[in-house]
Amino acid sequence: MSNKVLSHKPVRKAVFPVAGLGTRFLPATKAVPKEMLTVVDKPVIQYVVEEARAAGIEHFVFVTGRNKGVIEDHFDQQVELEQTLRERGKQKALDILAEALPGPGQTSFTRQQAPLGLGHAVWCARNIIGNEPFALLLPDMIMQDERGCMSRMVDVYNETGGNVISTEEVAPEETHKYGIVEKGAPIAGGFKVNGMVEKPAQGTAPSNLIISGRYILQPEIFDILENQQSGAGGEIQLTDGMLELAKIQDFFGFTFQGRTFDCGSKEGFIKANVAYAMWDKKMAKALRPELEQLLASIKPRTA
Ligand code: G1P
Repeated sequence: MSNKVLSHKPVRKAVFPVAGLGTRFLPATKAVPKEMLTVVDKPVIQYVVEEARAAGIEHFVFVTGRNKGVIEDHFDQQVELEQTLRERGKQKALDILAEALPGPGQTSFTRQQAPLGLGHAVWCARNIIGNEPFALLLPDMIMQDERGCMSRMVDVYNETGGNVISTEEVAPEETHKYGIVEKGAPIAGGFKVNGMVEKPAQGTAPSNLIISGRYILQPEIFDILENQQSGAGGEIQLTDGMLELAKIQDFFGFTFQGRTFDCGSKEGFIKANVAYAMWDKKMAKALRPELEQLLASIKPRTA
């Protein structure tokens, strides 16, 4: 892979593809979008938006679909609720609401009208992003870290320019579920990406480093995605588009050291709930003995 159209324009906008159906969580996701499922006391999507905000993102672009309107409401002011809270002197609750709210004009919502794949979802944001680099955060993945995965990626990007993707090691038998990268030479807190493949058949992955759901991409990806043929699973794959872009621009990998939870799976979602609860000092104190007791005593149901 080669060379050299590097750009160090700042990353100001972020894309959140939230059109997915959430079939793995039915019936919970029949009326509630999977991105609105709660980890401790916040919907999954809010963790991801907060990570982007911590990285300096100023504009939040949601690629939504049918039945996702509640995500738009979540990032809007709830006037009646705030009024009631004010009347009752509930300042703490008001502060919590204010913290979650992006500023006026800082959000955009566009629809992916058909579920044609992640590459297609990202392409749907092209006119809102325009001709500048952007962050992409997949809301299935939440990343627990004091500083935030995207902040750390912006540090790498400020050194390298080009395109940066977060990666993480998984067990070899898990690789077929993800995009996989081939690691090249180390560079500026990351490494050069030598190759990528989307969901390789079991036993054929070039490494066990997965693309873990955070990207900084240059806008040239949009022209490529416009003509992208469908790939793995019959979907228009972002990874295939990135492979094309890697012919003319550099790609760098960043190895995230915090904890990643794949909230697209039930196990990942439960783990995220436990991990975020245990991150909270007060809750951890109350929960630890109860969890230990539960783990020691509970057995799977036989029927
Ligand atoms: C998508 C990407 C894949 C990446 C994964 C991370 O796959 O296509 O490269 O590894 O997200 O969650 P999806 O989960 O949409 O199948």
